[in-house]
Amino acid sequence: MTAVLDRPDWISATSAAERPRWCAESPVAPAHGVVHPHAPGLDIVGAHSQVPLAGGGQVEYANLDHGASAPALRIVRDTVDALLERYASVHRGAGWHSKVCTSLYEGSRAPIRDFVGGRADDVVLFTKHTTDSFNLLAHCLPTRTTVVVFETEHHAALLPWNRPGINVVRLAAPSSPAEAVSAVDDALRTRPAGPALLVVTGASNVTGEIWPVRALAAVARSRGARVALDAAQLAPHRPFSIAELGVDYVALSGHKLYAPYGSGALVGRADWLAAADPYLIGGGATASVTDDETTWKPLPDRHEAGSPNVPGAVALATACHVLAKADRPSLAASEQSLTDVLRDGLREIPGVTVHSLFGGQVETIGVLTFTIAGQSSAVVAAALSAEHGIGVRDGAFCAQPLVRKLLGAAGCNVEDGTGHAIRASVGLGTTTEHVDRLVGAVESIAAQGPRRRYLSVDGRPTPAVDDRRLPFIAPWQ
Ligand SMILES: Cc1ncc(COP(=O)(O)O)c(C=O)c1O
Repeated sequence: MTAVLDRPDWISATSAAERPRWCAESPVAPAHGVVHPHAPGLDIVGAHSQVPLAGGGQVEYANLDHGASAPALRIVRDTVDALLERYASVHRGAGWHSKVCTSLYEGSRAPIRDFVGGRADDVVLFTKHTTDSFNLLAHCLPTRTTVVVFETEHHAALLPWNRPGINVVRLAAPSSPAEAVSAVDDALRTRPAGPALLVVTGASNVTGEIWPVRALAAVARSRGARVALDAAQLAPHRPFSIAELGVDYVALSGHKLYAPYGSGALVGRADWLAAADPYLIGGGATASVTDDETTWKPLPDRHEAGSPNVPGAVALATACHVLAKADRPSLAASEQSLTDVLRDGLREIPGVTVHSLFGGQVETIGVLTFTIAGQSSAVVAAALSAEHGIGVRDGAFCAQPLVRKLLGAAGCNVEDGTGHAIRASVGLGTTTEHVDRLVGAVESIAAQGPRRRYLSVDGRPTPAVDDRRLPFIAPWQ
């Protein structure tokens, strides 16, 4: 059977005004989609979507790629839909809708600050995503700052500091949390005079391992350094407080936090940010412009030039608000048990290696990376999708030094096309069936290889015979 999905009826029919608006009627989202046992308000857009299989037929999509981008919460989408009914310029218009949007945009900072446990005087700057947040922070560092960063970081946290006037100390991958703490201590103790910043992830986007942020922040503080936390992966899975951890800055992305509307945030201490020239030059950041001189606004406008992304800001704030109100320990426990089943199931399969930096010494979030001996990770990932309806990610996950190290340590070939790995990541939409399906599929592929033949098309493995058709989503398709 050829799997062709129908064009959704809203393309030709409904206007925004005809669609339901939860906020006009009730403070809770409509009860369709996945209703999470620990968080009834956290249902997911697109839960139970059907996807086509290469041999014909459809199956419920097993999204095990939350670590890349998570689907929207329904309450996030409904809030943005309600906002769009009144969408207008922010900070720039005298009309009522501009007033509504400006108030929503500015009001979005507080739920984000609360979600990360920020101090009252921490500034919340809207960015595009974590990458943008770290580039903004890098732009604002005082000259002669020493930045200490492990080679295990995501490229977004590893690379933005490489710029004139900044001294970057890149530390080798530690093999234990204690080694990480002592490497940071040594690097900060022996640094040249001047300000210092430790950049560290809360949880690895490759192994899912939770880093010893509290201990690292304590040692950094004792050496007079600040700390920037990469919470891109930690924030969707675990509650935390930067004030309580002793961290100075935190960066996160809306699209990993069930709010995929193009926004992220940098939250933290104002002084370095306030002293720096604007990150972007343009309208919104300027206080006065004459022929001879331009003066800049104070924070937060100083670093938010251009028309703000109000749907993105409101989406991120809404996700932060509802997640902060949810029973997060129960959510974490249920994700943990799915992850344990997944890890244990994969480990039992002959030829499968689940990779780890700290060798089981630390807790993990619902992210793990594995390889199958002798098999191309790209082909395995393609087969998981085409033959089993499972979404995972393959490659080096924008953390090439770490993936090279893990695969090298496990004896995998890191130089040819098989030197990549497969990452599975669970989230609010994950069910036991999804996890079981992945374990069963990997078991079958590890024993017999994929059932179909794959060819390289545009550098990606694709079933040699593939009758799947992409769905109609946009009116221009
Ligand atoms: C740990 C970590 N840091 C930073 C990033 C970069 O996030 P973004 O692509 O949203 O900027 C990611 C994305 O995968 C990540 O996992």
